[in-house]
Amino acid sequence: MDAADWPAVERIFAEGIAGGEATFEIETPTWEAFDSGKLGTPRLVAEDPSTGVVGWVAASVVSSRAVYRGVVEHSVYVSDDARGRGVGAALLDAFVTAADEAGIWTIQSSVFPENVASLRLHERAGFRVVGRRERIARSRLGPHAGQWRDTILIERRSRVSGRD
Ligand SMILES: CC(C)(COP(=O)(O)OP(=O)(O)OC[C@H]1O[C@@H](n2cnc3c(N)ncnc32)[C@H](O)[C@@H]1OP(=O)(O)O)[C@@H](O)C(=O)NCCC(=O)NCCS
Repeated sequence: MDAADWPAVERIFAEGIAGGEATFEIETPTWEAFDSGKLGTPRLVAEDPSTGVVGWVAASVVSSRAVYRGVVEHSVYVSDDARGRGVGAALLDAFVTAADEAGIWTIQSSVFPENVASLRLHERAGFRVVGRRERIARSRLGPHAGQWRDTILIERRSRVSGRD
């Protein structure tokens, strides 16, 4: 992913926000904020040869402490009209491989319990459920606006990075 991909990445991000089951965010960031907040590597888009960018995945470090430098939190989004045909799985598999190569040893994310597509997507990519966080934050938009919502914390521990 680079700056030229941002219009498509932002549109796909906005579709996910509008769906109400992807994130607590209520609006997309600027490219500058997104770019500075995410790791440069790995950061990927999926492209359909006929329609262009149909999905993206990116991650942030979870802590500024050096001991946690290999622990990241990721986001993965596929456009409304490209879901259910393996794009998310391909993106996540490529991301996991690239994370291993980049020395990242734990990838984590928080998923709403209602987001069965994301839970299944991550389960098949080797993520495990750490636990359920109760009423962790309040939704401000969409079908759950005003409600305190649970999230499922998931993680994938690398078998190759972060080993002695
Ligand atoms: C979650 C998301 C990224 C999945 O991407 P996708 O391209 O539709 O997923 P895939 O087609 O690769 O499917 C991956 C797995 O999830 C399953 N799956 C996909 N959509 C599903 C649904 N609506 N319900 C149940 N399972 C579903 C697939 O069957 C597949 O599992 P399988 O290998 O056992 O068959 C996509 O739905 C999305 O962008 N949603 C909005 C943003 C979002 O919620 N992001 C995650 C935030 S935590």
